[in-house]
Amino acid sequence: TIAFFQPKHLAGKRVLLTAGPTFEAIDPVRGITNRSSGRMGYALARACREAGAEVTLVSGPVTLARPHGVVRIDADSALAMHEAVLNHAAQCDVFIAVAAVADYRPQAPAEHKIKKKGSPPTIALTENPDILAEVAALPQPPFCVGFAAESQALGENAEVKRQRKGIPLIVGNLVQESMGSDAATLTLFDEHGRHPLPTGAKIDLARHVVAHIATLLEDR
Ligand code: CTP
Ligand code: CA
Repeated sequence: TIAFFQPKHLAGKRVLLTAGPTFEAIDPVRGITNRSSGRMGYALARACREAGAEVTLVSGPVTLARPHGVVRIDADSALAMHEAVLNHAAQCDVFIAVAAVADYRPQAPAEHKIKKKGSPPTIALTENPDILAEVAALPQPPFCVGFAAESQALGENAEVKRQRKGIPLIVGNLVQESMGSDAATLTLFDEHGRHPLPTGAKIDLARHVVAHIATLLEDR
């Protein structure tokens, strides 16, 4: 489909997204990360833009180009992503958290490269902030959308997560089906129930998700 013919579901709305993995330094040359190409988040940023929104994309380390007309802010670590999001969250109507944020980071990254010794090192971890849950708990939160990448029991895990984070919409996907691929199978979970989307290319799925968000925004 050509972008020009997309309906302007989000005209005048400001959308903030996170996408990609985060990278949590262990030392200057090593780190902990998550598997995420960023493709779903970038597709959503593009679909929001096509739908007429003003789009800011806070991006972890990925090899993708900035979508046309989108403001991109680079944030490598969960803490950097957290700061960038909280700087913009109050000025947005919709927040879509697609990033695969590392749940933990090394407590004290080494200043210099850790040298190999006789025995393997132990790396102490500390918990990262839950960016989505924090934005959802703001006094006047934007319309918050989460992603749940699960490897099993998608329905239960995604709906439990939606309620725990206090958000109106969560997009569930089975990682085996979409990891690193250009296609995915997604199911939307909202207060009305579950809505499976037809398996397809990430950009087409992204346009479905945007249309669904627009419908829920209208009902508010
Ligand atoms: N998320 C976030 N900040 C974090 C962790 C997750 O903003 N520190 C967001 C993700 O971008 C996603 C949603 O929360 O939209 C769900 O992420 P997920 O990792 O599936 O959920 P967790 O609550 O971390 O639970 P778990 O990893 O145990 O499944
Ligand atoms: Ca997690």
